[in-house]
Amino acid sequence: MRVNVTVNGERRQADDVWEGESLLYVLRERLGLPGSKNACEQGECGSCTVYLDEVPVCACLVAAGQVRDREVRTVEGLADGDRLDPVQQSFVDAGAVQCGFCTPGLVVAAHDLLERVPEPADAEIREALAGNLCRCTGYEKILDAVKLAADRRAATR
Ligand code: FES
Ligand code: FES
Repeated sequence: MRVNVTVNGERRQADDVWEGESLLYVLRERLGLPGSKNACEQGECGSCTVYLDEVPVCACLVAAGQVRDREVRTVEGLADGDRLDPVQQSFVDAGAVQCGFCTPGLVVAAHDLLERVPEPADAEIREALAGNLCRCTGYEKILDAVKLAADRRAATR
């Protein structure tokens, strides 16, 4: 089947998509967007988190056919050209990236949190990111990164 979908503001088309294919597969293998990671393919780890119509979803659990004529925004789409989004930059600056496998999903989840709650308490950050697993960092640096991003976003308001 053919899937037309808007990805990061651009109209994109994927052909010969298999009925059972996931949005994650389409993004990575057909549309050349490897930012969203495939760690579990079962909706357990959050590494594949993308926005679908501005709501974060696990792209591995969304069938490609479900995204027809909808809007997807991936971690690549958060940056403004070469300029990283404050959330992306804060993950780098706070040392919240080790192997990096969890990072794209965490960045999208943290971005969504800060859009909804610009100055979240620690408990709100932990709750918002509870579906995103990281094997490397122990989560403290991730917490630091989200708080740094919140401060930076506040400074530009
Ligand atoms: S790869 Fe989608 S939740 Fe783990
Ligand atoms: S940095 Fe390695 S899984 Fe999070």
